[in-house]
Amino acid sequence: MFKFMRIAPLLMAQPLDTALEVKGWVRTRRDAKGGFSFLEINDGSCLANLQVVADSGLVNYESEIKRLTTGCAVRVAGDLVVSPARGQAVELRCRELTVYGWAPAETYPLQKKHHSFEFLRSMTHLRPRTNSLAAVARIRSALALALHRFFAERGFFYVHTPIITTNDCEGAGEMFTVTALDLNNLPRQDDRVDFSRDFFGRQASLTVSGQLEAEAYALALGNVYTFGPTFRAEHSNTSRHLAEFWMVEPEMAFCDLAGDVDLAEEFLKYLLASVQTECAAELTLFGQFIDPGLHDRLAMVLEQDFARITYTEAVDRLLKADRAFEFPVRWGADLQSEHERYLAEEVFKRPVVVTDYPRAIKPFYMRTNDDGRTVAAMDILLPGVGELIGGSQREERYDVLLERLAETGLRQEDYEWYLDLRRYGSAPHAGFGMGFERLVQFATGMANIREVIPFPRAR
Ligand code: 4AD
Ligand code: MG
Repeated sequence: MFKFMRIAPLLMAQPLDTALEVKGWVRTRRDAKGGFSFLEINDGSCLANLQVVADSGLVNYESEIKRLTTGCAVRVAGDLVVSPARGQAVELRCRELTVYGWAPAETYPLQKKHHSFEFLRSMTHLRPRTNSLAAVARIRSALALALHRFFAERGFFYVHTPIITTNDCEGAGEMFTVTALDLNNLPRQDDRVDFSRDFFGRQASLTVSGQLEAEAYALALGNVYTFGPTFRAEHSNTSRHLAEFWMVEPEMAFCDLAGDVDLAEEFLKYLLASVQTECAAELTLFGQFIDPGLHDRLAMVLEQDFARITYTEAVDRLLKADRAFEFPVRWGADLQSEHERYLAEEVFKRPVVVTDYPRAIKPFYMRTNDDGRTVAAMDILLPGVGELIGGSQREERYDVLLERLAETGLRQEDYEWYLDLRRYGSAPHAGFGMGFERLVQFATGMANIREVIPFPRAR
């Protein structure tokens, strides 16, 4: 006889005088004079709690309701009425309350209203029950769904690229080996581990990027994207690096670098605009408690064109900067995060696309420009976050690719299948990768990347 509702749609529709049932967790209990109690219930569907009024006439008022503490799981059934008190428009007059699970106050760790994020990181299984981490989870979900929608609206196909792979896409050697060998008794040949006796007959790793496989599908289906977990044994222990993170990587046949940059800008704007409309309450929370500049930063991305400069121009700007950088600036060296943030935060004060990096510092698959010294690469740098997107036009010319493999010290025999894509029906194509957690960081203002993935794996 009670209609079950989640709190989010309930607060939206406010179906007054309806017999409703809500299931969630107690946030607070307050006993009022005159024999009744107020409960704040949160069911995770939205930031807001539902206020429940339970009076002493209820059969389990003394035995259970008055013993409820923060964290208890309950079912509350009653009638929705206009709330006479300030703070909420409606409240539920309780007719029945069932306790599913107690949360003893002496031991339940989430008692205070505000816990530090470091403290919450020590209990990643409970932290989604806090307002801020639950809000991050909802924003993360909204962004993931928005990205699928963006690509679907543009005719891209979703391709599932492998997690276990035998190629090192970025050529940086930052891979975790996947093995079934007995680590206490490794087969060896010539002083090296003999992976021919391993499960796959050769050394395999967790993927650092789905790009190479996405290229194979782009050169068959046209436009595709992959979105999944990515692993890097990077030694950087920073607020922007994880060992396990998610990357979204579109790949487009018959596309050049300019088309790639255009798509990336449109993509980022689409995603942030979706969050603004779908997660307004969450953004208000983050603007209030986490990052007062959040709304302006989102507006800055949405309302302006991204700045576009070449790497060579960026180096000029940095050399002219009236500031001392920790890492020296010189043509041919990679940009460090202090340089990237200076460009985005101080020179342009908006997202910056840097293109045409030196060939010597970029992976083998990037297309060599006519000058021979640079490649058709692009990085998108954001204020506050630094590098969010890295992409390029791919080298589609067989001979040049072969040369690049040799130059970067990779073995041709490991890339025969990738070279086939250039032997048969090769075509210009381009794509990029966006670090999904860095996007969530930008959308929430969260300072540390460990707060925007449910169970962070980092150094
Ligand atoms: O710039 P990256 O290394 O590019 C690639 O992997 C290309 N294969 C992508 C492509 O063209 N399809 O990584 C892309 C993005 C970075 O810009 C960054 O946002 C994110 O992935 N990223 C990380 N995020 C969190 N933790 C890490 N350790 C990350 N490494 C890269
Ligand atoms: Mg990069």
